[in-house]
Amino acid sequence: MKPIRKAVFPVAGLGTRFLPATKAIPKEMLPIVDRPLIQYAVDEAREAGIEQMIFVTGRGKSAIEDHFDIAFELEKTMSERGKSLEVLEPTRLGPGNCAYVRQQEPLGLGHAIWCARDIVGDEPFAIFLPDEFMVGSPGCMKQMVEAYNRLGGNLISVLEVPREAVSSYGVIAPGRRDGPVTEVTGLVEKPRVEDAPSNLIISGRYILQPEVMQTLKNQEKGAGGEIQLTDAMARMIGTQPFHAVTFDGKRYDCGSKAGYVQATLAIALEREDMGAEIRAFALDLLK
Ligand code: UTP
Repeated sequence: MKPIRKAVFPVAGLGTRFLPATKAIPKEMLPIVDRPLIQYAVDEAREAGIEQMIFVTGRGKSAIEDHFDIAFELEKTMSERGKSLEVLEPTRLGPGNCAYVRQQEPLGLGHAIWCARDIVGDEPFAIFLPDEFMVGSPGCMKQMVEAYNRLGGNLISVLEVPREAVSSYGVIAPGRRDGPVTEVTGLVEKPRVEDAPSNLIISGRYILQPEVMQTLKNQEKGAGGEIQLTDAMARMIGTQPFHAVTFDGKRYDCGSKAGYVQATLAIALEREDMGAEIRAFALDLLK
């Protein structure tokens, strides 16, 4: 079984739900306290043993490239002033560890993944949607890689939501269950509540076999007029093993404003350097 060495980060979306904040700043650069969302996702990938980060970007997303580059003037000035550069350590992705490819039109998540086909090549790969913020120990992708090493094939992370919420997400039709692992017998993107095969939604992390690129090449537009990754994955069921892993941890939908604020509050409360201060402030505010 080939190990998971590469991860694709589709970051070419328009982020319209966060306007005007995301007019000039990519959604993925919005910080949770002091780290941008994309940094948390890259850290999660590294923890899972992934070596190469492939970013699918678009116009207006160059801040992401700058973030993972060397900031020469900043680092020189900080060094001259005797300041530690340790805080910048996780932002360093050398040329062998990252690649950027453009999605010229936002035609959908499936199309964004397909744009990375030449860099992914003929090996299984991970996908991270950085606005799905996953907090756990071990991290979500590490939990998935552990399952992949036993099961192979394709894996997606899932979580349970109230049934009336399913229409905003990709939903799985579940088969046999074994602890956190569920066999996937079908997938549907943004179903009507009455048509949804379960309340288990796909939550932004995937391990897929390279054949998905062939499927995406011939993929018609689906829900919302976009080329949907879920539809391409659905066509692979039956030809390759397909499982879902229920993530043991917390997930925040940082593509939505409420989820973003919840994540910020949760992380701030956990932080040693500010948790007590924020807790006291929050309690006071709620009085
Ligand atoms: P979203 O559905 O969250 O869309 O995409 P969005 O454009 O980022 O945000 P809104 O809905 O307008 O507020 C899920 C993920 O897929 C990427 C996004 O960057 C995000 O990580 N994506 C989506 C692309 O890279 N290209 C696309 O064409 C669509």
